[in-house]
Amino acid sequence: MTTFHGKKVRVLYDEAAVRARVRELGAQITRDYTDKDLVLLCVLKGSVFFFTDLARAIDLPLTLEFLGVSSYQSGTETTGEVRITSDVSKPLAGKHVLVVEDIIDTGLTMQFLLENLKARHPASVKLCALLEKPARARTQVGIDYKGFVVEDVFIVGYGLDYAEQYRNLPFIGVVQGK
Ligand code: IMP
Ligand code: MG
Repeated sequence: MTTFHGKKVRVLYDEAAVRARVRELGAQITRDYTDKDLVLLCVLKGSVFFFTDLARAIDLPLTLEFLGVSSYQSGTETTGEVRITSDVSKPLAGKHVLVVEDIIDTGLTMQFLLENLKARHPASVKLCALLEKPARARTQVGIDYKGFVVEDVFIVGYGLDYAEQYRNLPFIGVVQGK
């Protein structure tokens, strides 16, 4: 347990654990994408720190793209109605696209996004997610590269937010008594 400006936060994965896992994922992606035209696609905002660390753990030439999605919430759960709020800067046709996301919760946001991306005729689309929360899955989304599997608790830190706060915690944790 630690505190962040008066709030108690339970640490799930500390900075060293996150760094080690990101390195492993980067090595795996490096092996799989050798000689491929790789586009790393950041899903804003939650995956931003994971994305920049992962990009530097991949020892290959690649390009970076950013995309914003907003899923309409009812309480803390997404409704499955998703909107692209800002799109990539270059066409994805013919590219090997690796989507980098913070967490797959119900899976509804990613289901929508993957379908949308596939319609742009990339050479391939795969998914790298820092976290998976299988207890809440409402649709099956295949995660090609997965950081950690978490229980059914609300996660903050390392990009993930609660009401837009806590994204800058350098570790992955759970706020106690929000
Ligand atoms: P999904 O559509 O239910 O899979 O969730 C999509 C988005 O909800 C994720 O990309 C996160 O931005 C957010 N989200 C889901 N679970 C959590 C959590 O435990 N902490 C913070 N954000 C979450
Ligand atoms: Mg998100």
